[in-house]
Amino acid sequence: MAASAIILAAGMGTRMKSKKPKVAHILLGKPVINWVIDAAHGAEIDTIVSVLGHERDQVIPLVEDESAIVFQEQLLGTADAVLTCKEKFADYEGSVLVLSGDCPLILSETIQALVDVRETNQAAAAVLTMQLENPFGYGRIIRDEQGNLLRIVEEKDCNPAEKEIKECNSGFYCFDARSLFSALEQVGSENAQGEFYLTDVLEICRSQNKTVAAFCTENAEECLGINSRAQLAQAAKHLQQRINAFHMDNGVTMLDPSTVWIGPDVVIENDVEILPQTFLFGKTSVGEDSVIGPATRLIDTAVGKGCTIDETIAIEACVDDFANCGPRAYLRPGTHLCEKAKVGTHVEVKKSTVGVGSKVPHLSYIGDTTIGKGVNIGAGSITCNYDGEKKYPTIIEDGVFVGSDTMLVAPVTIGENAIIGAGSVITDDVSAGALGLGRARQTEISEYRKSHHPDES
Ligand code: UD1
Ligand code: CA
Repeated sequence: MAASAIILAAGMGTRMKSKKPKVAHILLGKPVINWVIDAAHGAEIDTIVSVLGHERDQVIPLVEDESAIVFQEQLLGTADAVLTCKEKFADYEGSVLVLSGDCPLILSETIQALVDVRETNQAAAAVLTMQLENPFGYGRIIRDEQGNLLRIVEEKDCNPAEKEIKECNSGFYCFDARSLFSALEQVGSENAQGEFYLTDVLEICRSQNKTVAAFCTENAEECLGINSRAQLAQAAKHLQQRINAFHMDNGVTMLDPSTVWIGPDVVIENDVEILPQTFLFGKTSVGEDSVIGPATRLIDTAVGKGCTIDETIAIEACVDDFANCGPRAYLRPGTHLCEKAKVGTHVEVKKSTVGVGSKVPHLSYIGDTTIGKGVNIGAGSITCNYDGEKKYPTIIEDGVFVGSDTMLVAPVTIGENAIIGAGSVITDDVSAGALGLGRARQTEISEYRKSHHPDES
C-alpha cells in the first residue's frame, strides 16, 4: 500500500546561532531537509507535506517542487504541527509517516520498515525507537511487563526512574491516518513545556484499545538530529563514511577515505582512484581508470575515462577521455578539454575548448577561446579577452604553435598550422601556415661594458 509523509520543519534551531533555519543548512552540498525528502522518495512515498514556520521563506524554495507545504503559524508543539496538515489528508486513508526535517541520516529502508511494521500489525501507530548511552533530552519509551509500549515521556516530564530508561523516541512514526487525526483532537498541553506533544497520540490510541507498535533501530545514528553546528559536522562525517563505503564497494580506490568528501549525486565508475583531500560535489561524474587528486575539487564536472586530474579545481567543466589536468589547474565554467588534451601547471581556463591532443602546459590564462586539434600553447601565454568593458573571442586553429610568453589580444584568429614567435603581442589575425611575430627587434651595442665601466680591468 502506498504511504504519505509529513515532514516537520517549523522549528527554530536556536542553537545553530544562524540566520538560516536549521533545515536549510547544507550537508555535502544538499540542504538538511532535502536529505529527508530524498529518503522518503527512496521509500516510494508519493505524497509529502512539509510543515514550515520559522524563516519559511528560506525553506519554501528548497521543498516546493518536492512537497506540498503547510504553515504552522505558532510553534505550539509537534502535535499542533501535524494537525496543521489535517486538511491535506481529509480524504486519505492508510499510512502517514511523520518524519523530522532535521534528521538527515534516516534511510529509505528504515522508513519502509516503519510502514511495514504498522501495516503488518494493523497498528494505529508504529514508532521508531533507539537505545542511547546518553538519552538526555529525548522522550523515553515506557513499556509494560510484556514489552508493549504504554507511552512516551519527554525529558522534562520524566520522574527519576523514567530518566534512567535508555530506549528513546527517534521522532519517526508511521500512523494510520484516521486514527492519527482523530487522536490529535484530544491532545492537550498539560505538561512541563506547555506544548502539544505528538507523542501523546500513542497513549490516546492505546486507551482506545488500538495497537501501538514500537521497533528499535540498530543504527541510532540514523536518528541524529541537527540542533547545533557540532551535530551538523557529526552528520556530515556519517554521510561521508556512508557515501565513501558505497563507492569503495563499487570498485573505487581511496587511499585515505577520511579526507575524501563526495556529494550524494556524484557518479563514479569502477577502477577510479581518489587521492587524499579531494572533494567531488554536485552533478560530478568520473569515468573508469581516472585518477583524481590529491587536493582536487570538482563541482558539476564531467570527467571521462583514463584521465589524470591532479591538484585541480574544476567548476562546470567537461574533461573528455584520457585528458590531463594539473597540478594546480583551474577550470572555470564552460571549459571543455577534448580527448587527450592537457592543461598543466598554474593554468586557468574559462569558457573555452581545448581541442583533441592540444596542450596548454604551463602558466597560462585561456578565456573565451576555441583551440583546435594538436595545438601547443607555450609557457606563460595569455589570451587577452577583456578590454575593461567587453569580452572578445580568440580562435586558434588546428596545428598552431604558440611560442612562450605570447599575448593574444582578442578578438583574434590564428590560422591553421601558423607559428607565433615567443614573446609576441598578437593584435591582428595570423594567416594559416604563416609566422606571426609581434615584438621589438633585438639590438646589440658592442663593447658596451667597457665604455660604461672603464674602471673594470
Ligand atoms: C521530539 C519528541 C521526543 C523525541 C525527539 C527526537 C515530541 C513531543 N517529542 O522532541 O520524544 O525524542 O523529538 O528528536 O514530539 N516542530 C514543529 N513545530 C513545533 C514543534 C516542533 O514543526 O511546534 C518540528 C521541529 O522543527 C523538529 C521536530 O518537529 O523538526 C521535532 O521538534 P523538537 O522541538 O526538536 O522536538 P524535541 O523536543 O527534540
Ligand atoms: Ca521541543
